Amino acid sequence: MNNLEECKNKYQKYGTAYIKLEDGLFTPEEIKKLKQICSEVPKEHITVGDAGEMNYLNVGRFMVDKKNPELVNYKFSDPLLKIISKNKIKSKLSQILSIKNEEVIYRRVQFNEIGKNCFVGKHLDTDSNPDYIAACVIQLGDKFKGGMYRVFQKNNDFIDYSPEYGSLLISDCRYPHEVTRVDSGLRGSLVFFISTHSGENRRII
Ligand SMILES: [Fe+2]
Repeated sequence: MNNLEECKNKYQKYGTAYIKLEDGLFTPEEIKKLKQICSEVPKEHITVGDAGEMNYLNVGRFMVDKKNPELVNYKFSDPLLKIISKNKIKSKLSQILSIKNEEVIYRRVQFNEIGKNCFVGKHLDTDSNPDYIAACVIQLGDKFKGGMYRVFQKNNDFIDYSPEYGSLLISDCRYPHEVTRVDSGLRGSLVFFISTHSGENRRII
């Protein structure tokens, strides 16, 4: 990966860095393995009513963050965490986020799958945990259309990212964002949240 500085600048300026598969944070073999694990992990079907519209989401969980980070579905979370916790990955992520390598903590890891006509409404990740710094989103779907990752900027303008297979989006959790409607195919992303806080989730319920 040779555009680390560029990623860092984009992240600081727009709240999001987009890294293509060929830019090599993860190898094609690692992405293939992640996709395989995500296809096998048990899924929950989640329906959220939102302003009269519905979100349909299949979620496979690897690490939950209700009070403290906790691994679940070990048979799947074990091999998956081995890949995303590799030192080369954490080291690059820490550089982009301008935090220390040893401070990088993953608190929630899950696979989100959405199909035709589905979307994820505008939200803030810090509402789930105020200590989340960044969301890392690895795209594992390939033949879908729509489903853009939309990041709102300070003037309520927005930037759309069309995530390609194997890409990684690193997005500042203080920026509101949404996933636009999927027009066709299946959009499947592996998401993990980075924090430097290892204690209890300080969300006020
Ligand atoms: Fe989010």
